[in-house]
Amino acid sequence: MGSVAKSAPTSTRVLTTNKHLVRWVEKMAELCQPEAVHWVDGSDAENEWLCQQLVDAGTFTRLNQELWPGCYYARSSPNDVARVEDRTFICSLSKDAAGPTNNWEDPYAMRRKLKALFKGCMRGRTMYVLPFSMGPIGSPMSQIGVQLTDSAYAVVNMRIMARVGAPVFAEIDKDTKRVVPCMHSVGAPLAPGQQDVPWPQNDTKYIVHFPETREIWSYGSGYGGNALLGKKCFALRIASNIARDEGWMAEHMLILGVQSPEGEKTYVAAAFPSACGKTNFAMMIPPAGFEGWRIWTVGDDIAWIKPDANGQLRAINPEAGFFGVAPGTSAKTNPNAMATLARNTIFTNVALTPEGGVWWEGMTDEPPAECLDWRGERWTPEIGKETGKPAAHPNGRFTAPATQCPSIDLAAWNSPEGVPISAFLFGGRRASAIPLVFQSFNWSSGVYLGATMGSETTAAAGGALGKVRRDPMAMLPFSGYHMGDYFRHWIRMQRELTETPRVFHVNWFRKDQDGKFLWPGFSENMRVLKWVVDRVRGRAQGKETSIGWTPYYDDIDWDGLEMSREAFEKLQFVDRKAWRREVMDHEELFLLLHDHLPPEMIYERELLICRL
Ligand code: OXD
Ligand code: MN
Repeated sequence: MGSVAKSAPTSTRVLTTNKHLVRWVEKMAELCQPEAVHWVDGSDAENEWLCQQLVDAGTFTRLNQELWPGCYYARSSPNDVARVEDRTFICSLSKDAAGPTNNWEDPYAMRRKLKALFKGCMRGRTMYVLPFSMGPIGSPMSQIGVQLTDSAYAVVNMRIMARVGAPVFAEIDKDTKRVVPCMHSVGAPLAPGQQDVPWPQNDTKYIVHFPETREIWSYGSGYGGNALLGKKCFALRIASNIARDEGWMAEHMLILGVQSPEGEKTYVAAAFPSACGKTNFAMMIPPAGFEGWRIWTVGDDIAWIKPDANGQLRAINPEAGFFGVAPGTSAKTNPNAMATLARNTIFTNVALTPEGGVWWEGMTDEPPAECLDWRGERWTPEIGKETGKPAAHPNGRFTAPATQCPSIDLAAWNSPEGVPISAFLFGGRRASAIPLVFQSFNWSSGVYLGATMGSETTAAAGGALGKVRRDPMAMLPFSGYHMGDYFRHWIRMQRELTETPRVFHVNWFRKDQDGKFLWPGFSENMRVLKWVVDRVRGRAQGKETSIGWTPYYDDIDWDGLEMSREAFEKLQFVDRKAWRREVMDHEELFLLLHDHLPPEMIYERELLICRL
């Protein structure tokens, strides 16, 4: 690195015969002026070489290989620790198509801006040509992208999060699928001889999507969803546009399978806003009293869902790994996640212990006596108490391969046609008003539940603590087009289906007047899941209330948990007064979206008001 930039970059062997791809790479290399171009084959040897480069550059620390085999540790710049929603743009041709919940700029103006930013932005660095498949390679439900990036960190993370390399080039060479071009630069060119920093980035950040041309341009960040372009940018924002046009759904949902002791398997997909425990739920181990039951994990973040020839919705997880929030993850809260991240994992912005291991808040009851925090500064429990600074950043992450998860439903996860979805769950973090679980009356009232779902903001999310943020289908930061049109697409999907999945709303976070949680959560959520399955299979009763069907106390399996009838009634109480306020709040969202809001949403709201 740092040697004199050449006019024509040196290149490793070109790994495709696709002329369009080769020409695009040449054009982008001309624009970004990297020192070298590296075509990523995805091999183990290449990965080791890249990780060694990252160690040499000071980006990676190799963890103690006896304790953490195959694991690396990284610290980002403090200016680059999370997705940047205010710097995320949907540059559709018309502003109206992006809608009021997305940032928009004129695509022509934005292209000019990006051209200027990307001009020479990779000087002194290598440009990696990284082909990736979202979904099993060759599956009719999969999509292909090629990310050009000057970040080796992004390459080794993407290698865990997606299927990458030579087999994807082979797929591209068949020329049967459109390839989504994804440009990425950390925006930190190196002058000849200039010493690099461990985490190059630029304080100017742009995460830009062009929905019509299906393009992604990301500038200035090396972190998570800003840099691993297959995830939020492609699999949600661009894919939601493709899905709307082609009649399927790209959703911010986990997918899991519930297996009964008799071997009956029921798959559900669930949308909870960021930081509401999706990974924990997707990897749940059933509690005492549920011997013989199993939860199988298909995905923890994103689901692509399509009707099959019989009108049955089927889902794939387009990802190949988990990019999970580390703080709060422990052998108690999520033993399957802890087993998953025990090897071959990249940790970012957590604490580094003196023995070459990692730690984060909530990992163990006892913090280490001493460690280096996510900024690289000495941290002890005393310093933490004094300064109020955590050892790990609240958005510190692990990047771990899905195949290492003990609960992974390997066949389902690899299945080209996906798993049949019997139920959708929506949920949020709500201290009051919202019962533990209720079922919508039908598809359109279910869409209304998803459209109006909200969650209280947490410290990690920033913003005013405890304020309810409406986050329709958990897609507020991820829908690549107008949210009102997105609701319409949901409504329309029913026409393609012979049997619509049942729709439920859950809330693990209801509190009593003293601020104490009414529900233990975590593995006990299995009890709710079993009722959901029983409803889907026509085995459980539902009690009709003004907001939907709720469970009878006797229809929930209480074996192994102390829960009185009275306590359960409290959890399930439909507080009409609170719900009237809730409906007023829904109106605020609807006003924002009014000129694209499908009439069904207005009818559903009227019906709800009448019932209340
Ligand atoms: C995520 C998110 O990282 O939703 O999955 O923010
Ligand atoms: Mn997510």
